[in-house]
Amino acid sequence: MSEDMVRSALPKRVAVLGVGRVGSTIARLLVAAGCEVTVAASGDPERIELLTQIIVPGARADWAADAVRDADLVVLAVPLHRFTSVDPAMLAGHVVVDVMNYWAPIDGVQALFEDTDRGSSETVQAHLPGAVVVKAFNHIGYHELEEHGSPAGDPDRQALGVAGDDANAVQTVAALIDAFGYDAVRFDSLAAGRAFQPGFPVFGARLDRRAFAATIDGALLAV
Ligand SMILES: NC(=O)c1ccc[n+]([C@@H]2O[C@H](COP(=O)([O-])OP(=O)(O)OC[C@H]3O[C@@H](n4cnc5c(N)ncnc54)[C@H](OP(=O)(O)O)[C@@H]3O)[C@@H](O)[C@H]2O)c1
Repeated sequence: MSEDMVRSALPKRVAVLGVGRVGSTIARLLVAAGCEVTVAASGDPERIELLTQIIVPGARADWAADAVRDADLVVLAVPLHRFTSVDPAMLAGHVVVDVMNYWAPIDGVQALFEDTDRGSSETVQAHLPGAVVVKAFNHIGYHELEEHGSPAGDPDRQALGVAGDDANAVQTVAALIDAFGYDAVRFDSLAAGRAFQPGFPVFGARLDRRAFAATIDGALLAV
């Protein structure tokens, strides 16, 4: 995709819910990609205003509901054990990128995410019935996400997966992945994103597009 085409496919306004390790990293990459970025934590934006100026220059801090209202895309980057504190009504009508992972040793065992018949993002989608959930950015560490990107055409360019049931939403997130310096490998169902989860071979792995697709195909056959 040419640079102009990527830019035209990018969301204009993005709200990032959670301004911790991953949320702040993604917010910085979004600002660098030219998006208008608003970040929110769980409470009063005054609490994160200075932090935002320092760690995500160019982004604005706001209440979650105000950040989401006019956003073209919402990034959900809160710890999974805090996920149910996010209001589903607030996210209705929005495309939501789920970057979260269920890791019982960190999150504690949560009955909601113990269902092995569906992936964590499918559970997130079930609890956000009015939103369109896309899974991405969960299988790379926040340091690596900022450091491993490279220009399109680099033969060693790393690939990142994006999975969702809505083709337009997947396309938007794929454009972001490209803008962040990675080849996007698209999957046309949220269920395919199970293979991005902890314990699966692409999780934490540095793979190019071809190797990523082949590894996921193998993992899905085994699911
Ligand atoms: N760490 C990684 O390298 C990595 C990589 C990929 C994916 N992930 C996944 O990404 C998720 C976040 O991880 P993290 O390491 O970035 O967490 P973190 O550093 O602990 O940050 C959590 C952030 O979420 C905010 N938050 C909590 N509840 C919220 C709510 N209801 N609305 C808005 N913001 C809320 C917190 O704000 P308050 O201070 O107000 O509570 C805080 O800013 C996890 O599911 C993790 O598995 C992590």
